[in-house]
Amino acid sequence: MKRTRVCDLLNIDYPIIQGGMTWIANAELAAAVSNAGALGVISPNAAAQATDSYAENLRYQIARVRELTDKPFGVNFPVLDTPKEMVDIAIQEGVRVVTTSAGNPATYTRYLKDAGIKVLHVVASVRHAKKAEAEGVDAVIAEGYEAGGHNGLDELPTFVLVPQVVDVVKIPVVAAGGIADARGFVAALALGAQGVQMGTRFVATRECIAHQNFKQAILEAIDTGTTITGRKLGPTRGLKNELTAKMVEMESRSDSAEELLSFLGWGRARGGQLEGDLVEGELYCGAIAGMILKISSAAEVVQSIVGGYTKVLSRLG
Ligand SMILES: Cc1cc2nc3c(=O)[nH]c(=O)nc-3n(C[C@H](O)[C@H](O)[C@H](O)COP(=O)(O)O)c2cc1C
Repeated sequence: MKRTRVCDLLNIDYPIIQGGMTWIANAELAAAVSNAGALGVISPNAAAQATDSYAENLRYQIARVRELTDKPFGVNFPVLDTPKEMVDIAIQEGVRVVTTSAGNPATYTRYLKDAGIKVLHVVASVRHAKKAEAEGVDAVIAEGYEAGGHNGLDELPTFVLVPQVVDVVKIPVVAAGGIADARGFVAALALGAQGVQMGTRFVATRECIAHQNFKQAILEAIDTGTTITGRKLGPTRGLKNELTAKMVEMESRSDSAEELLSFLGWGRARGGQLEGDLVEGELYCGAIAGMILKISSAAEVVQSIVGGYTKVLSRLG
């Protein structure tokens, strides 16, 4: 597989990034991805108990990933949920790569860059990509609304978003949303991306701490198994269940954002993803889940893309 600017930027063999995933992007997963030649990413609240200090948890996860790999790894900070104290921990602990998402890139980019950290920011529109570049990020992750978890307000699909972002920025573009195998990887590169970020495919791995119920639900999901809810709060893609049915019902009644927030309360994603509550928990999951049929190791996921890459290219003639 040819090296791209993303390999050079991150000092990795293959331009594949494991996306940050609230509650479940744990050190074991990140290390396994990094050991396979891609970039593993930790989420600060990964595997945390509801009462744990996220600051302590982040320090623990960083120390743990270092026990398991000497390869590069990253930390994900969803900007709106991240106090500066957490960013300072990443700096103090010598983290070299941060992916930021869900918020204004102006908030932390310069601060992180001044500490010598590479910053990749998740964007979901051309306008936001231009802004992130102007703020000085090293790369943008252009994420289409096929992706699991929180999505952009304009709900642009990956196939539409990526080439338009590629055309307006000079920094490398990483494609995210709807990619889980070598075909998706090659397609992303054909659109002009210099790498991919995957979330859902990495949930269904042995090393991910996601609850077995959640992993099994991903394996059983079909093409229409996910839906977007919470458009008034920030569109979020997850597996359909009783919770999303209730949200759809509330949204069709035009319930307000406050009513939706108070119904959701706290901890639904933790309950679904870490504790396996398939009924009332949130199960962030991308539309590509229908294609994921088995639990693999993180290395097998990376290798299937690296190995399949040449085959896919040769089919193109
Ligand atoms: C379970 C889950 C949790 C996620 N949580 C986060 C998060 O905390 N921060 C973030 O930037 N992205 C989050 N994402 C998005 C991923 O990092 C990634 O960009 C996305 O999953 C890519 O699309 P895919 O699901 O089609 O692979 C999450 C995705 C999933 C599936």
